[in-house]
Amino acid sequence: MADMVSSQPTIPAGVVKPVIPKSKAALPPEPATIAVDGKACSDIITLYEDAVAITLQFLRGHRGRSEPPISGIAQIVEQIIESVTSSGDLCLKAIQHTAEFDDSDHYLACHQVNVALLTMRAGMGMKMPGDKLYELTLGAMVHDIGMTQLPEGLITRQGKLDQSGYAQIKQHPAYGKQLLTSYTGAYPFLETIAYQEHERLDGSGYPM
Ligand SMILES: [Fe+2]
Repeated sequence: MADMVSSQPTIPAGVVKPVIPKSKAALPPEPATIAVDGKACSDIITLYEDAVAITLQFLRGHRGRSEPPISGIAQIVEQIIESVTSSGDLCLKAIQHTAEFDDSDHYLACHQVNVALLTMRAGMGMKMPGDKLYELTLGAMVHDIGMTQLPEGLITRQGKLDQSGYAQIKQHPAYGKQLLTSYTGAYPFLETIAYQEHERLDGSGYPM
């Protein structure tokens, strides 16, 4: 994926370098515009859409009470980490690709992929070792799986939830833990991530 490495744009000979007004000179530089043309971008968008499709399949399997294999998600997480390691912020551009959601599971799939990408970037910023970065990203890709056990209307509902709706939502980490127990053999960390995803640093949050 060496062709996906972004590089700083160079100013061609003969082009006048823009003058930065004095008032802006002291400000930190604005983020460089990410080049999104060409094969590199289409590869990343395809990877993003594949990740959403595989996650959606996994979510729908659980909503249908089956136990779908997690190997597809595990493989795409490896590809994402490899891609982002070599292409810098291009993956963040992929997140800007907006989608219209077919249903609550499609929304959840996009949400989980986006959270996984941002979580992975945070882990990379913390200089996490590769194995921990993989666990973190994979966990993020399935962290809301417990939502599949709730009524679809509750997830897509607009506006503030009433007390009863909120009480149901607060159950999703526990449901997630139950569902991910099936994968404990290969991925013992998943159920903990799903169960503790809404726990705050001081131990508050839910369902604790
Ligand atoms: Fe959640």
